[in-house]
Amino acid sequence: MSATARKTAPLPDDIRARKGGAPLVSLTAYTTPMAQMMDAHCDFVLVGDSVGMVLHGLPSTLGVTMEMMILHGKAVARGLKQAMLVVDMPFGSYEEGPEQAFRNAARLMAETGAAAVKLEGGVTMADTIAFLVARGVPVMAHIGLTPQSINTLGGYKVQGRGAAGEALMADARAVAQAGAFAVVLEKVPEALADRITGEIEIPTIGIGASAGCDGQILVVDDMLGLFTAFKAKFVKRYATLGEQAEAAIADYAAEVRARSFPAPEHVFADVAPEATS
Ligand code: KIV
Repeated sequence: MSATARKTAPLPDDIRARKGGAPLVSLTAYTTPMAQMMDAHCDFVLVGDSVGMVLHGLPSTLGVTMEMMILHGKAVARGLKQAMLVVDMPFGSYEEGPEQAFRNAARLMAETGAAAVKLEGGVTMADTIAFLVARGVPVMAHIGLTPQSINTLGGYKVQGRGAAGEALMADARAVAQAGAFAVVLEKVPEALADRITGEIEIPTIGIGASAGCDGQILVVDDMLGLFTAFKAKFVKRYATLGEQAEAAIADYAAEVRARSFPAPEHVFADVAPEATS
């Protein structure tokens, strides 16, 4: 089904049913206008905890809070009619155990209207995923490079190379068996991503993985060239909006300094002009 033909947002089960079908399209969003722009083009939209780095200038996703996710989740929800909303569980909101995870996932869903939450982790999170799913919380899993664990992963490295591939394979099987409806594969070797996609029964959503995944996701500010602090190899820039914005701001500053803005068409006469028709 094409995104433009759809009138209502899919449910997590509809996303799961797309396994092996037409590729799932997804982007992150953090604001209402951006959500409106992508609504007709995406199957689901993720309010990623990347919001911390992209919009709030944090050095990593570790400082992102529940309050930030709820604020941005509500903003994105206002912009979506057709695409499903997924909200990230921030660092520290689910790792303690299933009860803590349920409490915070339920709050995220209730306050933002999200259809599902995403959390990072494979085998170690399988019990938590099963607990959430059994209690009405659809879960998208996220394995491979899990940015909330950069301090134990040794940075933003490719995950699952060589012998480490089997552990990642086990993570993928574990989240699928636990009931996740889809799994994000971040920064994993292409061949491993293809193997995982071929072996597990839920859709794989690639980011720095493989075109053979069941879907793709990118951080919207990366692909639009709005976030330029660094660019990962897996990011394709479809636009250079950051450069355009900076050039426009420079033009504005120059015109203000030259008193050429505002021009006559931007100012008001003392007396309102007669209506012309
Ligand atoms: O936080 C994020 O943006 C993500 C992605 C998978 C893009 O988790």
